Amino acid sequence: MRKIQFFDTTLRDGEQTPGVNFNTREKVQIALQLEQWGVDAIEAGFPIASPGDFEAVQEIARVLKKTTTVGLARCQKGDIDRTYEALKDAVDPQIHVFLATSDIHMRDKLKMSREEVLASIKKHVQYARKFFKKVQFSPEDASRTQRDFLLEAVQTAIDAGATIINVPDTVGYSNPTEYGAIFAYLIQNIKSESEITFSSHCHDDLGMATANALAAIENGANRVEGAVNGIGERAGNTALEEVAVALHIRNDFYQATSNIVLNETKRTSDLVSRLSGINVPRNKAVIGGNAYAHESGIHQDGVLKNPETYEIITPQLVGVQTNSLPLGKLSGRHAFATKMDSLGYQFEKERLDQLFKSFKQLADKKKQVNDADLMALVIDDIHQENEEHKLAALQLQFVSNGMQGAIVSIDNQAKETLTASETGAGSIQAIYNAIDQIFEQKPILTSYEISAITSGEDAQAEVYVTLEDDKGQRKTNGVGIDFDVLQASAKAYIQASSQMRAQGVI
Ligand code: KIV
Ligand code: ZN
Repeated sequence: MRKIQFFDTTLRDGEQTPGVNFNTREKVQIALQLEQWGVDAIEAGFPIASPGDFEAVQEIARVLKKTTTVGLARCQKGDIDRTYEALKDAVDPQIHVFLATSDIHMRDKLKMSREEVLASIKKHVQYARKFFKKVQFSPEDASRTQRDFLLEAVQTAIDAGATIINVPDTVGYSNPTEYGAIFAYLIQNIKSESEITFSSHCHDDLGMATANALAAIENGANRVEGAVNGIGERAGNTALEEVAVALHIRNDFYQATSNIVLNETKRTSDLVSRLSGINVPRNKAVIGGNAYAHESGIHQDGVLKNPETYEIITPQLVGVQTNSLPLGKLSGRHAFATKMDSLGYQFEKERLDQLFKSFKQLADKKKQVNDADLMALVIDDIHQENEEHKLAALQLQFVSNGMQGAIVSIDNQAKETLTASETGAGSIQAIYNAIDQIFEQKPILTSYEISAITSGEDAQAEVYVTLEDDKGQRKTNGVGIDFDVLQASAKAYIQASSQMRAQGVI
């Protein structure tokens, strides 16, 4: 059966989502989980963009055992050299070279003629080929590029040695009929002695990114590019989990498989959501909280009689845990370790001890600690480990019909404890004013979302915030998980503020 390759760009295009900033350790964690999930290639970053990007691509190249590591490069020698340096240690390195080919991009952005663009593609793909066996070329804004010129650009790249042709719908302008036709046209008209892999790269501005990617597959693309949870520039990229599950559920139609380990999907999605600070909407396909909920009486009745009446995807297929045995405050270290193992986590003794301590603290407050709680505990631990600032203590004074008071203490990496007290019209405002005082900042809180990790009154809270600097130029996200809603809110705000400081905004 035909096999579709999955190319994940969560760490590159996904990181271009406003507010998303992964540090190197977080990127490595995500890359390792992506490898476990079964993606074929991971675009680890844009090495020339910054020393941080370079370092992350290099680290990822060193830890991946079988997955291809990809670095992005413009049609510039410096970009290609830097990408080669970053990928030197990869088991399977690949470069992704791009240059825009649409009239609007060539005229208004690049200020280059068609001839200059073709010459640059030839020169830089040839140059990249000196260092890499696998060279991917993307004609940026391909879907708005004139057909005959697109073919010329793609043929130039192939003649220069490109082995993979990626066709970006950069601004999410295309629709499935049109986008599929581009692949049919290119595949039919290119001339090549060696096999060329065609790949889709779609943005979701018109809500068609997944449909477009599937149309590309129908028309001969053997590779799909996208990001976990569909994160990415503006409205985001194709959500890879949607394509993977669509290929599985509609195998009768697509007649294609992939290497994706479907029951690792939820874990991958949760990790990306919590480390990116982008909450997954409840109604999101495949992994949203409502994807397996049946509300109307008629539906519930049908599902009780036969789940297949209204359920085409089972929660188990994508790794949503439903009926496993919860732990409680009497559960010991052995039960905890066994449970972690069954969830696929292996930790060294010290780390396991630390997590066991956190579990005990939670179990003291929460009657049943189930799998979702434990997975949140692990991700929170990864996040906290990387944080430069941590909530040390929170004290509140609540006055009905009056101003609320908060005293916040934060530990920084220099092991100093910084404390401030403030008031506010509500408790959250008081807490956030105190944190602003500590960070000497005045950001705008542009988004605050709260959800419960499990059902029940004693569920842990998960808070997502987005901050924008006072000039409206930079955004950062933060996530806080805690049994207490106010503590979770404080943790999320501290994380977003700490990232703003790390970026030198404040
Ligand atoms: O959307 C786009 O065109 C891109 C390219 C760099 C492939 O992300
Ligand atoms: Zn893109």
